[in-house]
Amino acid sequence: MRGIVKVVEKATGFFNNLLSMKQVDPECKVHPLPSTLPATLFSDTLMPMDHIVTVERLSKSYGAVKAVDDISFGIAEGSCFGLLGPNGAGKTTTIEIMEGITAPSGGRVLFRGQPLGADFKGKVGIQFQTTALPEFITVKETLELFSAFYNRPRPMEEVIRLCSLEDILTRDNQKLSGGQRQRMLLALAIIPKPELVFLDEPTTGLDPQARRNFWELIGRIKAERTTVLLTTHYMDEAQILCDRVAIMDKGKILEIDTPDALLAKHFEGVLIHLPYDGCCADSLAGFEGLVMSENSIELQTNTLDTSLKQLLAAHVNLEGLSIHKPNLEDLFIKLTGSSLRV
Ligand SMILES: Nc1ncnc2c1ncn2[C@@H]1O[C@H](COP(=O)(O)OP(=O)(O)OP(=O)(O)O)[C@@H](O)[C@H]1O
Ligand SMILES: [Mg+2]
Repeated sequence: MRGIVKVVEKATGFFNNLLSMKQVDPECKVHPLPSTLPATLFSDTLMPMDHIVTVERLSKSYGAVKAVDDISFGIAEGSCFGLLGPNGAGKTTTIEIMEGITAPSGGRVLFRGQPLGADFKGKVGIQFQTTALPEFITVKETLELFSAFYNRPRPMEEVIRLCSLEDILTRDNQKLSGGQRQRMLLALAIIPKPELVFLDEPTTGLDPQARRNFWELIGRIKAERTTVLLTTHYMDEAQILCDRVAIMDKGKILEIDTPDALLAKHFEGVLIHLPYDGCCADSLAGFEGLVMSENSIELQTNTLDTSLKQLLAAHVNLEGLSIHKPNLEDLFIKLTGSSLRV
């Protein structure tokens, strides 16, 4: 069995590796804002006192690309906040500015009402979208290594239990499956018992069962009243885990609220989905709430019986018809005009 000496030998290499991937931006400092801000700015943040973290008019440009474009929101303590959006929406850029590792072009981030200070990094846990793990050491050795970096780490047994690592403690990091690796990375993020955890697409690429298992782990962290900021492409995940969500695209927040409130705002009744073969275009033209694309029809209705009768009367082929309650995926398509570019 390899001992702690080997673990420490590996530590320098690992941190160099991690930091080279996520170099702290030397220019990263808060940008002052005028003391009087427009009253409309915090329409989302009605009770900012409850917010563990607040984002004020945040922007980040890379040349001509506006990765983040003047966004503001707050996250209530103990809640799970979801940042949703397709590839390139600006989720990672936003989260990395909030983590204090990327400098914004404009705006600022407040933690408990104050600009990010020297003690901020000790109060948060981070699971990056991509992270290197040290090679040739085991899961348990890696946990010991990371625990050694903190003054008051969480007891090892607690970390192992929370992240269900019991079965893989002696496994080399290189031999972990995708789901096991994500559990391990979550464990590293929660070792300091953080007040706020940033999880950047922790379930991307996992199979459906592994995703569900991971949701359970996030549920355990939420149960401790730890605040969670989660980015994801999976709308079902957001609907189950998140108290509030912000839907982002092209650097902007398109909508922000609880999943239920967003769905109530944008939809009534149910959605009928039907493969479309191009027939009957004339008779379908007058249908209210109908969206026709090249090969499918979507119809929003709160009088299902009537709508089905109308479709039959229009001689539409109902083979392949499905009916469902609108979900965040439907909302995303409605807001952006496209499905998620995963
Ligand atoms: N360091 C960088 N230099 C130049 N452009 C960047 C940089 N980082 C991000 N971008 C650009 O900013 C935009 C937002 O990227 P970001 O990584 O924040 O998106 P994302 O929502 O996290 O996407 P994904 O779902 O693919 O992870 C993209 O157009 C990206 O190409
Ligand atoms: Mg990203």
